[in-house]
Amino acid sequence: MEWFIGVCVGILFMSWWFLMKKKKNNEKIPKGNSGWPLIGETLDFIASCYSSRPVTFMENRKSIYGDVFKTNILGSNLIISTDPEVNKVILHNQKNIFIPAYPKSIRELMGEHSILQLNGIKHKKLHSLIAVFLKSPQFKARITTDIEHSVKQCLASWTNKTIYIQDEVKKITFPILNKVLMSVGPGEDLDLLKREFEAFIKGLICLPIKFPGTTLYKSLKAKERMMKLVRKIVEERKKQIMDSNEVNDVVDVLLRGKDELSQSSSSSNLELEMISQNIIEMMIPGEETLPTAMTLALKFLSDSPLALSKLMEENMELKKQKTDNSEDYTWTDYMSLPFTQNVISETLRMANIVNGIWRKAVQNVKIKGYLIPKDWSVMACLITVHLDSKNYENPFKFDPWRWEKIEVLASNIRFAPFGGGHRLCPGLELSRLELSIFFHHLVTTYRWVAENDEIVYFPTVKMKKKLPIRVQPINS
Ligand code: HEM
Repeated sequence: MEWFIGVCVGILFMSWWFLMKKKKNNEKIPKGNSGWPLIGETLDFIASCYSSRPVTFMENRKSIYGDVFKTNILGSNLIISTDPEVNKVILHNQKNIFIPAYPKSIRELMGEHSILQLNGIKHKKLHSLIAVFLKSPQFKARITTDIEHSVKQCLASWTNKTIYIQDEVKKITFPILNKVLMSVGPGEDLDLLKREFEAFIKGLICLPIKFPGTTLYKSLKAKERMMKLVRKIVEERKKQIMDSNEVNDVVDVLLRGKDELSQSSSSSNLELEMISQNIIEMMIPGEETLPTAMTLALKFLSDSPLALSKLMEENMELKKQKTDNSEDYTWTDYMSLPFTQNVISETLRMANIVNGIWRKAVQNVKIKGYLIPKDWSVMACLITVHLDSKNYENPFKFDPWRWEKIEVLASNIRFAPFGGGHRLCPGLELSRLELSIFFHHLVTTYRWVAENDEIVYFPTVKMKKKLPIRVQPINS
């Protein structure tokens, strides 16, 4: 009998211990609602993204559960943070607790050595090689001439007809991106890359089913065709690099840094594969973001004549000074116009091209008292921070003047359009430079009338009608 009582007491004690442990954890997991079985709160989330106020989904939950809450969308248990301080801890990831978490279709399309998937020390090395190169004054000086050329050529082709800005600006940004990555100029190779890249990115957001005929399958095939060309470019460059010290593009950077990146056992084939994969995968964050920023800037400026007139005035002054002194522009000329930089910041704040950053916790972690359990996804929501009246007065108003009072630092926790921490966008300065050159030549040479159009936020930020506009030279 005694042993029986002993077992019962033991079982009771264990059950109490487990219950207490579970209760303790549950108490700290942020409050929220997991919605319906399987679909969770996905429909509510998508409906809000299709509306003119995409933050509604977040705002509603925030008002009930607080700044950090749990939900279930797109098939994952997810903790959403709208708190800038919690976001900072997630993005800075000092203790290496968070890893990138992409949908299955994206993971299928990325190589295992992709900058977007790598973690830890290998990621840090790769990121730093690329970021240091893209930030260097020598690179910015060289690429300024290419951007000017591309912008002027494209703008000249827009006049006296209706054009769709969302498509047209890609004719500026895609060639520049390819120049930056592997020095491919206009011609057959660029046409092939453009065609195949369009097919490739269709698979980024699709059902993760892979057999002939599916979007994912076609996307992987397009990547294979791009890989063939990029591998050839990397191989040829590898032969040339022995005779020259020049570093002209990301291929050069990765070839020179390959010893740092690869383990000692890696074969030369693996290195070439890794470099070629990364070149293609760097096109993913670079290709859509910048043209979207250009398009939305035009939308905001078209709706804000005062801001447009001030932008024009500042840029006309620079143009006059350059013409009077018969001087060429330098990259610092473009980047030193304060109002132009404020227009860019305000565009990035309101456009929220990357509206949230997804990560997965590899162990239980507590931030500001909230428990994020191991294997849960977490989203550092940028859009809610950028459009919160606690952070910005009148947040839905396009007001570039507000930046005269705010310091724009990469570390500003209330302004993070380029992310933060070890994964801070390495294309940050290139993007600002390209936007500045685009604005300068557009507003000093042309005027335009835009048709009414609306911004949609799902699955990515876009204009509903691609923003149709009519452009005319100022003199006419
Ligand atoms: C307005 C334009 C752009 C915006 C708003 C933007 C935004 C971002 C954001 C938020 C991230 C961080 C993602 C994360 O933490 O998971 C990121 C990463 C990245 N961006 Fe950009 N980006 C822009 C332009 C570009 C361009 C032009 C390039 C190419 C030269 C580029 C290359 C990258 C790369 C390679 C990463 C991955 C960095 C890493 O994980 O280490 N981006 N970008």
